[in-house]
Amino acid sequence: MRLALIAALWTAVNSVTAQQQFLGQQSDAVRPPNIVFILTDDQDVHLQSLDYMPLVQKHLIDKGTYYDKHYCTTAVCCPARVTLMTGKAAHNTNITDVNPPYGGYPKFVKQGFNSAYLPVWLQEAGYNVYYTGKLFNAHNVDNYDSPYPAGFTSHDFLLDPFTYNYMNSSFQHNQDPPQSHEGEYVTDVLAQKAYNLLEEAVEADRPFFLMVAPSAPHADIQNNSGTLTFDAPISAPRHVHLFPDAKVPRISNFNPDIPSGANWIRRLEQQNMTNVDWNDHFHRQRLRALQAVDEMVDGLFDRMESLDLLENTYIFYSSDNGFHIGNHRMQPGKSTGCEEDINIPLIVRGPNVPINYTTQLVTSHTDIAATIFSLLNIPLREDFDGSPIPVTTSAIAASSQKRREHVQIEYWGFAGGEGIYDRRLHQNNTFKGIRIVGGGYNFYYQIWCTNEHELYDMSKDPQQMVNLLQEGNTVEMASGYAVGKLVARLDALLMAQKSCNGERCREPWKSLHPDGKVGSLEDAMAERFDRFYDEQVKVEWEYCHNGYVPEAEGPMFENEGAMFRDDGFMWPEWV
Ligand SMILES: *[C@@H]1O[C@H](CO)[C@@H](O)[C@H](O)[C@H]1NC(C)=O
Ligand SMILES: *[C@@H]1O[C@H](CO)[C@@H](O)[C@H](O)[C@H]1NC(C)=O
Ligand SMILES: *[C@@H]1O[C@H](CO)[C@@H](O)[C@H](O)[C@H]1NC(C)=O
Ligand SMILES: *[C@@H]1O[C@H](CO)[C@@H](O)[C@H](O)[C@H]1NC(C)=O
Ligand SMILES: *[C@@H]1O[C@H](CO)[C@@H](O)[C@H](O)[C@H]1NC(C)=O
Ligand SMILES: *[C@@H]1O[C@H](CO)[C@@H](O)[C@H](O)[C@H]1NC(C)=O
Repeated sequence: MRLALIAALWTAVNSVTAQQQFLGQQSDAVRPPNIVFILTDDQDVHLQSLDYMPLVQKHLIDKGTYYDKHYCTTAVCCPARVTLMTGKAAHNTNITDVNPPYGGYPKFVKQGFNSAYLPVWLQEAGYNVYYTGKLFNAHNVDNYDSPYPAGFTSHDFLLDPFTYNYMNSSFQHNQDPPQSHEGEYVTDVLAQKAYNLLEEAVEADRPFFLMVAPSAPHADIQNNSGTLTFDAPISAPRHVHLFPDAKVPRISNFNPDIPSGANWIRRLEQQNMTNVDWNDHFHRQRLRALQAVDEMVDGLFDRMESLDLLENTYIFYSSDNGFHIGNHRMQPGKSTGCEEDINIPLIVRGPNVPINYTTQLVTSHTDIAATIFSLLNIPLREDFDGSPIPVTTSAIAASSQKRREHVQIEYWGFAGGEGIYDRRLHQNNTFKGIRIVGGGYNFYYQIWCTNEHELYDMSKDPQQMVNLLQEGNTVEMASGYAVGKLVARLDALLMAQKSCNGERCREPWKSLHPDGKVGSLEDAMAERFDRFYDEQVKVEWEYCHNGYVPEAEGPMFENEGAMFRDDGFMWPEWV
């Protein structure tokens, strides 16, 4: 009965939805589609871990669409996951860290998101929602029930402080107390739980959303008498001998002879051979730990196939954030704005999704909630900072001309290595950036809280070895643009984006050019805008802070920017 109602509602909504809002990609199936979302932890693109996952290739890459320019906007677990599940940038969730006071599960609850995030919204739309694996950091064996995460039909969460304990995990099912799995391999335990939830979902005979979030390939963390010890990830016993010769790809930014980047990264010393060898071991352990994930993906597809689900199910595969090992001389970790940390896997397979296809559309985790809404025909929320990612063939074709071409990157706090060498915490790792890829250009622009600036011409320098704004740099042109003029535009765009919300995030150039005539960096580069951009208030930090306090972040566009009109400057309406 309930299902008939949902189906009726589904058809009704289908006929009236604004094509614009949904990109015309809402499913036309009689029954609303299901979603299965696989989210790994700290999986890279640039260390090439996907090359070592033949079953992810077989089921997802070969049969779906790979988003080559997919980004997380804050490269660390909890903020990235909250952004993914709320459709809001970290500066609007104010979940900017993995632990309180600035992040973690307690902060998520405190900010009110336990009643306003994807699982809750999906239930409100009539979906059954299932989850197993890691939800957020600092969701632990003590606070798992105060309150329980809302929005789940059934769940089985991995809990801290055992989330990264590969051989002694703790899971918590529905209202049951946490259960320890001493001696069992975490991803294998998780796989069984995922299969069970899938069967439970099918038996319930309602459209469903299932999220499976393994902790692999995150570093292993053990609590040794109160001290948290990081070590290389651990594989299932059956995978320990694989890939004996694998090494971190020796691209030009790998442990380079000359320093690169800015701020604390530029002050790092080159790693010695002992350190490099151990980091290669860490890399191999990541690849080995991912094998059980690969097998789990196969297990899920096997079951979806025999349960006849594949025709009406969208399957997403992604990671919360990326990872670097040795790049720019850094120890294994994430948390920076370098391409290794922010550019992450996103693969989608499902009805009408192009097969064996790679797209260069620029997308981010901020867009995921809106994307799922669009596929399920749920009206988009006004406060979404992101917009639906085109996933169907026709939506991708229609969007390639006019889709947003940048992602706004942000971070607050410190960065720390996760290997065994150089465990210093690097403070002042607070910054804002713009990653932009358009017709004929490809840049990354970042301003640290120390007010150091970085600009990389990623078409010429994909490894980010030459900071065009480094003191003493003499390069004047980048992709045919004068660097000074380019920076004036990028800075204004960053100013407009760094504290944007809702529509202002979704329509970045409109806050600068309300007449809608400028829709890209290329348009904004027109000479007649030179004076306008020169006179814009520049992004400038007051001081470095570990969380988001507006006093630290200097001028905000809302108060001090101006918009362009042909007849002169105009103050924003919202002042
Ligand atoms: C995917 O496409 C490439 C060419 O773009 C082709 O070489 C390859 O065989 C295709 N793979 C499959 C599984 O169809
Ligand atoms: C495994 O975790 C449980 C708590 O969940 C703990 O009591 C037990 O001592 C741990 N075992 C090992 C070998 O660390
Ligand atoms: C770590 O272990 C110590 C005792 O060995 C215990 O007091 C402490 O609560 C543990 N920490 C966590 C986060 O579980
Ligand atoms: C190599 O570097 C590591 C990390 O800085 C240091 O702990 C170790 O002593 C060094 N080893 C040698 C042989 O220099
Ligand atoms: C952090 O940045 C502040 C400027 O906000 C500077 O005074 C301080 O020396 C920096 N600290 C470190 C550890 O780099
Ligand atoms: C973000 O949260 C921190 C910690 O609770 C708080 O100090 C800060 O004022 C909040 N920022 C905003 C913009 O609300």
